Amino acid sequence: MNSAPRSADPDLVGYSLANVSELLLACLDAVGARSVLEIGAFRGELTGVLLGWAADHEASITAVDPLPAPELLELAAAHPKLVLLRELSHQVLGSAELPDAVILDGDHNHYTLSEELRTIAERSSSSALPLLVFHDVCWPHARRDSYYAPERVPAEHRQPLVRDARLQPGNPGIAETGLPFECAAASEGGERNGVLTAIEDFIAQREGLRLAIVPAFFGFAVLWEERAPWAAALAATVAPLDRNPVLERLEQNRVAHLVAGFSRRQELDDERRHSAGLRRILASMLDSRAFTLAAALSRLRRRRDPVVSRPAIRAALQRRDG
Ligand SMILES: C[S@@+](CC[C@H](N)C(=O)[O-])C[C@H]1O[C@@H](n2cnc3c(N)ncnc32)[C@H](O)[C@@H]1O
Repeated sequence: MNSAPRSADPDLVGYSLANVSELLLACLDAVGARSVLEIGAFRGELTGVLLGWAADHEASITAVDPLPAPELLELAAAHPKLVLLRELSHQVLGSAELPDAVILDGDHNHYTLSEELRTIAERSSSSALPLLVFHDVCWPHARRDSYYAPERVPAEHRQPLVRDARLQPGNPGIAETGLPFECAAASEGGERNGVLTAIEDFIAQREGLRLAIVPAFFGFAVLWEERAPWAAALAATVAPLDRNPVLERLEQNRVAHLVAGFSRRQELDDERRHSAGLRRILASMLDSRAFTLAAALSRLRRRRDPVVSRPAIRAALQRRDG
């Protein structure tokens, strides 16, 4: 595994497809891809991997992101062959020539992905679809939308949403603590909700499609047409990992630990905020005349062990500060 995902992802969330790069590149090789379009490139972890592969394969890489992170801009500056488009997926898919492979990893909601798939299908109506690669086909996005910019999705196609949502596997609503999302559907499941649901809805409208799901790092999937000349080579590449039950258990285990780690940190943060409030109250009490009076009274009544004691409270406050 190359080191890029770790250095860019100190919490080891595993959000980048670079975590499955060996598999993804094997799929590109199986289909003989010479042009790849990455929708949603973020910091360019995967883009960097693709550029390395492209150099050995005389292939071209186009990355699309309306808000490229500084790391991606640096990557583009260092690799003049990379075409970086600061646009939305539907603008690019509607106009640019379709490549051999499209990696769909932009806005993870049913509407956006369905529109992307519809456009690709319309534009390749006379030929086979390009290889379609997806991320986030397992928990949490398989059956739950999230939105980078909800206003870009027409209101009638948006799920009721929650800002600053925290998600836990097994909880179809919003949890107190868990994996954080800026904007997620209030509930998991139901019609037109989630990435996998969008893929299944697309498959239901067409004949001859095959889907393989590799349940690792939030779920990697490839979708292809059986009539494509490379279909058998691709099927053989992904078959051993497709819905592999050992991988499924590993991913459930990984996600459980990831969510538990986030939850512990969020609980600690809540605890810290709470105790900082208490400390502020105690500190202002210490300086009050009411406290001086109460301490004097307390000393009078219980000389050896006063209930209200300034040194005891100061010592407690210092312990917390240290
Ligand atoms: C999960 S990140 C992509 C990660 C990257 N593919 C990787 O594997 O390292 C999703 C990116 O999609 C971008 N994005 C969101 N909506 C988009 C859209 N409609 N079209 C293209 N990109 C979009 C976001 O700005 C974000 O940087």
